[in-house]
Amino acid sequence: MASMASLPSLPKPISQTQHFPINPARHSRGLTVVSRNHLFSGHGLLNFQHGSFGAGEMRPIRSSNRTKAVSDSGIQVPEVPQLTSTEAIERLKAHRENQNGKQQFLAMYSSVFGGITTDPAAMVIPIDDHMVHRGHGVFDTAAIKDGYLYELDQHLDRILRSASMAKIDLPFDRETIRRILLQTVSVSKCKTGSLRYWLSAGPGDFQLSPSGCHQPSLYAIVIQDQSPFSSKGIKVVTSSIPIKPPQFATMKSVNYLPNVLSKMEAEEKGAFAAIWLDGDGFIAEGPNMNVAFVTKEKELVMPQFDKILSGCTARRVLALAEGLVGDGKLRGVRVDNVTVEEGKKADEMMLIGSGILVRPVVQWDEQIIGDGKEGSLTQILLNLIIEDMKSGPPSVRAPIPY
Ligand SMILES: Cc1ncc(COP(=O)(O)O)c(C=O)c1O
Repeated sequence: MASMASLPSLPKPISQTQHFPINPARHSRGLTVVSRNHLFSGHGLLNFQHGSFGAGEMRPIRSSNRTKAVSDSGIQVPEVPQLTSTEAIERLKAHRENQNGKQQFLAMYSSVFGGITTDPAAMVIPIDDHMVHRGHGVFDTAAIKDGYLYELDQHLDRILRSASMAKIDLPFDRETIRRILLQTVSVSKCKTGSLRYWLSAGPGDFQLSPSGCHQPSLYAIVIQDQSPFSSKGIKVVTSSIPIKPPQFATMKSVNYLPNVLSKMEAEEKGAFAAIWLDGDGFIAEGPNMNVAFVTKEKELVMPQFDKILSGCTARRVLALAEGLVGDGKLRGVRVDNVTVEEGKKADEMMLIGSGILVRPVVQWDEQIIGDGKEGSLTQILLNLIIEDMKSGPPSVRAPIPY
């Protein structure tokens, strides 16, 4: 394992890399060659070494410094300019500025360039990274709250477990990864937002086997987000998209297509999320959140974690809820198989995850949950988590060394 001290020295800034003339036979629509090993697509800088393009798909014609492409059928397609790396970076910057996205990306770390950048145009991942073209990567998050990372160590433990399940070697030891993440947030100066990070088999080639990927990579990004957590009741539906088998549902890999389709299904039906049932018909989880119920007997019930993601927030809610049992507000806390019937007739239903904290559900499919209003115990649990983020113990709050 490499340590921080053995990190390779920073390469030249991207803007200073040498510009190589393109090989016209390799010039393909939508991909603009800017240097020997870099392409730009609509998604950012993509690095390749042995990429191959389908022969004869497009025939570029040189006209002064621009490239006009004509397809084999003779139909002219819009002119595709050939760009220097400086021009491409300028376009990336302009593209970012025109995006008007709600989210601001404050800083990114990449083990590929071995440093942190605050320029969103440079926040890119090599196209030959096994995570990009084969989904061989895992990721995790942590909320940034008032200058602290919430549950960083719990999320770190989970990404290391996910990496082990995905057979991804670590580019650095745990402590170094932790230090890099804290330093990235520190450089970003972000006080409230989120940190997302990935471990991948790394760049190498375009094969299915990762044997050509010589150095696993770590990427991290800091996203500014000051929107308050909502406690408004939402509707959920049952997902028709199949749940991932337990081996894949229990690791947080980048293979989130079922989760995306499930979320889209919910949105199409005017709902916030779609709930998965497991292979035995028990309630499982949402696409990026866990689910829990307060029964008529005032018991907090949550599905077991053996076939779903072990949510850091859900586990923290379970721990904090024990205090409510002591207070007499809850009769008990149980992690168990939960049937759909039990869930739908519960007094309260909630979604739990680091992106939403604790969100009351007031309707599941056609079934109104409880009295159709936000549950009082759900609100209490949300308040407990918010309080924990602000003033919880050091085990859940890592100070950011700005
Ligand atoms: C599938 C899935 N389940 C549950 C969760 C909730 O986990 P956490 O509370 O750690 O965010 C997530 C969040 O990433 C998720 O993607």
